[in-house]
Amino acid sequence: MTHDSSESDSADGTESSPATDSGEKTPAVADGGTDAAGADSVTLDPWGSSTVSDYRKLFDQFGIETFDEVLEEVPNPHYLMRRGVIFGHRDYRTVARAMREDDPFAVLSGFMPTGDPHIGHKLVFDEIIWHQQQGGDAYALIADLEAHSARGLSWEEIDEHARNYVLSLLALGFDPEDGTLYRQSTNREVQDLAFELGVEANFSELGAIYDFDGETDVSHMQSVITQMADILYPQLDSPKPTVIPVGPDQDPHVRLARDLAARVQFFGVTESYASFEAGPEEHALIADAYEVLAERHPDETIRCVDAANYLESEREPGATDATATMLDSTITMLREAGKEPLRPRVRIVDRNATEEAFEALIEAVDGEKRVYDAHIDTFDLSREEAEDVAREVALDHGGYGFLAPSSIYHRFMTGLTGGKMSSSVPASHISLLDDPETGYDKVKSATTGGRETAEKQRELGGKADECPVYELYAYLLAGDDDEFATEVYEECVGGERLCGGCKEQAAELMEEFLDEHQEKREEWEEKLDELDIEFDSPRARN
Ligand code: TRP
Ligand code: SF4
Repeated sequence: MTHDSSESDSADGTESSPATDSGEKTPAVADGGTDAAGADSVTLDPWGSSTVSDYRKLFDQFGIETFDEVLEEVPNPHYLMRRGVIFGHRDYRTVARAMREDDPFAVLSGFMPTGDPHIGHKLVFDEIIWHQQQGGDAYALIADLEAHSARGLSWEEIDEHARNYVLSLLALGFDPEDGTLYRQSTNREVQDLAFELGVEANFSELGAIYDFDGETDVSHMQSVITQMADILYPQLDSPKPTVIPVGPDQDPHVRLARDLAARVQFFGVTESYASFEAGPEEHALIADAYEVLAERHPDETIRCVDAANYLESEREPGATDATATMLDSTITMLREAGKEPLRPRVRIVDRNATEEAFEALIEAVDGEKRVYDAHIDTFDLSREEAEDVAREVALDHGGYGFLAPSSIYHRFMTGLTGGKMSSSVPASHISLLDDPETGYDKVKSATTGGRETAEKQRELGGKADECPVYELYAYLLAGDDDEFATEVYEECVGGERLCGGCKEQAAELMEEFLDEHQEKREEWEEKLDELDIEFDSPRARN
């Protein structure tokens, strides 16, 4: 994730987060404002400046789901979830289910060692640690190959930063005995997996996703495929739901990893009604026709030609748009299949399987089935059952069994000076290595959402939703204490809290936090040798 920078949400009004377990409400972080309405698309660029002007667009444009929708399914959700800092996800349900049912699951994220770890990175450290504490296999990696190739850092710089990230992660509670820490460059299994995944991805595809062109370094491309391997690495020995906590700028990586996870499988599973292959839209049309006809003639065999006739009758005469064309091609397919009965079935398709594995799959499928050259149609298995059988057979025969990885997305923090939080502007962020007094001073000089005068503040209340100091409370300083976070918020917007005192309190809490954090870092510093991670890169220094 790139936390180098982030942008303030312009708040339009206040919003409350969903009720927490106790039924109380914690003020959520405000939703993206409407003043970005002119810009109608958001770009997610992993190596860009990663500003998100309107988080809501990410839902429509990229199909990221709102976190609110899964919150209830998460046992004891983390405060970043309760407060809406974690605002979106892909497929987190599978991870929440594993947590509830005590099934295996994993969490993994990676850090590009380009500078000091700061309070933006702390969000991700906390997310990894929390999942570990909920029983997940936890992985944290140093993206040194990416830092070297995409950001041009020398190995010497990388070594120093890597050490600092790891120390902060440990100081915040990561358990290295129970979790895995690694560097991309020295993890041979990750490199091998990257190579295999690279077989399924080509240059045009990376170009389209990441805007790569003829000038793009080969090593930069290699770092992308390495990240794909990072994301799937927790499942190398056994498939399990895996969550990747990151900023939304990393979503292109997550989407590609989800795709590759499916592409490298021995088998794919689809649903169908007849022996021929239909695309998703054609499939939907056939499904509609089947449903109507099955209801009309419950005791009769429904044949492809019947469905063709039905769709024909639904077709608007003379129409030539895309829908009509799709309808035509579906009708043609159905006519060609003629008298073949339409029957819902689950199809297991051979993608990369060995002959032996395909034979074993035929054996393993229970109930009625029909075997074709490169697929098997099963009539008694649900989609999930078919996926399970296919995965088991693949794993038994040396294939991968990856489940599509899940992700959760957190908001970028606002800079203390307003605008973006940027690693290159020291006053805009608090480094986890800042002297506690420096941290105190930075909070004291932070921008606020306060009114011009104390009088106005009492009258109108402060704008907590636009206040970087309130963010510090919500994201970090209030910790797990929802009541405290709510109190700060309510007092602020109710005009009972004035910025001077509010900042003093925040500054003191920040000083305490840094003091404690750095003490723990020192304790770990002494034990660092015992860990299974190397900080002196054997690479040429450049
Ligand atoms: N690309 C990430 C960043 O820019 C770092 C990273 C590498 C990563 N591998 C990963 C993040 C795997 C999540 C999962 O910070
Ligand atoms: Fe921000 Fe606190 Fe001022 Fe409210 S009172 S605007 S939270 S600094």
